[in-house]
Parts: sequence; structure tokens; C-alpha cells
Amino acid sequence: MLSRRTFLQSAASSAALVAGIGRATADETFETLAGRVARVQLAPDGYPETEIWGYDGMSPGPTLRVLQGARLQRRFLNDLPQPSSVHWHGIRIENAMDGVPGLTQDAVAPGDTFDYHFTVPDAGTYWYHAHNRSVEQVARGLNGLLIVEEADPLDIDRDQPLVLDDWLLNPETAQLDPDFAAQMDRSHGGRNGNLLLTNGTYDLTLTAQRHERLRLRLINVANARIFVLGLEGMEGWTVALDGMPLETPEPIEGPILLGPGQRADVIVDIVAFEGERAYVTRLDNERGEAQVTFDIRGTASLARRGAPRALPPNRMPDLRLDGSELVATLDMEGGAMGRMRRATYEGEELSFSQLAQRNQFWAFNGVVGMPETPLLEAGLGQTVRVNVINQTSFPHAMHLHGMHFSEIGPEDRLGPLRDTLLIGGGEQRQIAFNADNPGDWLFHCHMLSHAAAGMMTWLRVA
Ligand code: C2O
Ligand code: CU
Repeated sequence: MLSRRTFLQSAASSAALVAGIGRATADETFETLAGRVARVQLAPDGYPETEIWGYDGMSPGPTLRVLQGARLQRRFLNDLPQPSSVHWHGIRIENAMDGVPGLTQDAVAPGDTFDYHFTVPDAGTYWYHAHNRSVEQVARGLNGLLIVEEADPLDIDRDQPLVLDDWLLNPETAQLDPDFAAQMDRSHGGRNGNLLLTNGTYDLTLTAQRHERLRLRLINVANARIFVLGLEGMEGWTVALDGMPLETPEPIEGPILLGPGQRADVIVDIVAFEGERAYVTRLDNERGEAQVTFDIRGTASLARRGAPRALPPNRMPDLRLDGSELVATLDMEGGAMGRMRRATYEGEELSFSQLAQRNQFWAFNGVVGMPETPLLEAGLGQTVRVNVINQTSFPHAMHLHGMHFSEIGPEDRLGPLRDTLLIGGGEQRQIAFNADNPGDWLFHCHMLSHAAAGMMTWLRVA
């Protein structure tokens, strides 16, 4: 189908260069991470099981936990009916391990394996997911959590990952809606679902104690949905975004916003009383709905602790704005209710309606889908500044592979490090990063229907 074309077309270009890099030496032992078809209970009781594609047959897949600085090794076995690959989202990884077919490796054919092995430089909350025909494969369940642990344990009572997902199922059969290329999704807000899950469970209910201190690792693995979250019966601080610690924990006052691909680590204290409930709620409709419920049983301590300390910082390259940066602009155009008249697609200049006939809707700098030349070519260690101009009517979640960036605020103040920028319709933002990781890196919208319908580019670090 169309969604595959962009990826497969470019697959010939650079894949040959890196062939073989993913092979391990003979004496290394690799645990297997198998992508396979499985049937699991996703929908509430009473509904049939859903056929999914999951790592080790689960969605989310197994949670991989490694110590910061350690090596992660997994032999990906493709037991799926399509070629696939694994991308390690947010890991500042070496390019050949980044898992992008057509850019860093060949897609792994059904029955084949690929050995991923790399060190994890940064502690924090990361994830892994399929990166071939992502709009379909991630929707079918190919995602999992990758936790990189700090060397010293934190002063918390519990580490609680909460993987937020959004499935589009047929309400009668509980099977996935198989139209992953729906024009409506591709031209509007992406593939939004009708079943919201946490850790693969509908209406997840956990227990907690009054005054228990939890580290919630919130992670949005949905194809398109922006989660707008609130806390009830608990209070706390955001301590990390997209894996990276904030300099100082930030008291949570307003909603927590998570675009597709984004993460937030929050440290919360349960303030609800025994016998009550605490919630992570979804504020995306007026009513507010429980995403996760905590039944409060018992009391962990008589009083709350003081504010938590900041997480130890990861060792990041310097980022300084002194006017010598390489500057690039990313003009985002297209979509329904946009003003895009024409753009180049596969070397041809097409009108918006001709693009629509090809099920393509979005362009970066006038080009739909992977361009032949990169958005920018940076020298190693060069500071890069990108003006991101969203001329569309929709929000987007721009994800940069391989490096974290900071948003540039007023007076050139640098915001927290992120790997995914949530940008509203009509907004204009600036990001900067130190191009310290050599290779070709994807830069795309993590609303996966948008990526499949044009929102994809790449950059080169020499
Ligand atoms: Cu999480 Cu290119 O993706
Ligand atoms: Cu988008």
C-alpha cells in the first residue's frame, strides 16, 4: 500500500553501506526479542480476544531494564508477516543501530533476525517500537518500554511505568480496524482509537498507600492521540521529560501534555486517604475520565516527605547559542484545512488534489515524504538551530532521532531537553541541538499517519 512506498523506495540507497554492521561477533550471546502475532485480551471482559502483533507476543512488549552505561543486546527475530525493524526511541544511539529501514539498515524480512547491540548513555524512560510501516505496525502493538536505571536508586517507594496506548478496534469483533491508510486519518489528526489502554489493560486499577511516593513513568505510544493528563488524589513534580532529567523538579499544577512518542517522569505522593481512590485522569474531554485508578489501602507513612531532589543529570554535550549556529527552517504544510497548493512528491510537482489522490497530504519545505537531500548537513559538534513553522491546522509531534534538542525560549533561553516537540497548529517554535552524533537521522512527525502521508525528513551529521 501507499504507506510503505516512501520507506521501501529509499531502502536501496544507504542500506548497502551499513549491511553487516548489525551482526554480532560469534561469542556474544543475544536474548531474542521476537515480533510475533498473538491473541490477547485488550477489550473489556466479555469481548473477544484481539489479534495483535507484539514483541514476544505482548503489547506493550517486555519492559527492558538496563543500568545506565550498560550494553543492551537483543536479537530481533521477525516472526511477523511483514518486514520490520526496531527503533530505540530517545536513545542517543550509534546510527547503525537506530532501526530505520532505508536510512540505517535494511528492513528485517520475515523469518530473519537482526542483532541490535549498543550502550545506553542516558538514564531515563525510553521505548522501542517497529519502524517499518510504523503506522500499521505500531498500531498493531509493536512497542515496549526501555528503562535505563540511574546508578543510585531514588528515594521513592515504587517505580510505576504507565504505557498509554490507543487502539482502533471494531466494536463488535474487537479486531483491529485494518484500514491503516484511511484518507481521513492521514489528512486530519491521524489514526485515533476507541480503546484507551494503560500497560495493555483497559481501566487499569492498581493499589497504593496513603503517602506512598511513586515514580510514574508516563509514556505515550499511541499512533496519534495527544494525552492530556491530570492527577487526582496525588500531588507531585515532573522530574524528567523524554527521558532527560529537569534541572529542578517542577511542581505539577496544570495538565500533563504528552504527544505521541513523548514521556514524562513524575514523582507523586498519594494524598488520598485510605479507602479512597487516586487517579491519573484524561482531561481531553470535558468530563475527565480515569485512565488509571489507584485504590488506596493502608498508609505508607504518617507524613509526606519533602520535595524530591532532581534526578542526576545525564552527560550531555554543551549547547550554546552564540550566533555561529547552523540555521535551518522546517516549513510544515498541508493537511485538511491547510493552505498547501502544491508540493513535490517523488520528484514530481503535484497539486494538492493530485497528492490527495496518492493519499499524500503533508510537506516539509515543499517536499512530500523523504527528500533526497537532507534538511541540513551539520559538522560534528556543530550547534544547529531549526525554526519549526507549523503552517497546518493540526498539532504535530516532531521527533528527532539520535540526539536530544532544547526548545529556544524568549531571550534565547534553552528549555528542557526533549526528543519530540509537540507543536500546535499555526505555531512557530525554535529548537537547538549539538550535532554530536554522526550519521543520517530521521526527523518526522510521530503521528504516524502524518509520517506515512508525507511528514518525514532527515538530517546528516558528518
Ligand atoms: Cu519513535 Cu522515528 O520514532
Ligand atoms: Cu503530524
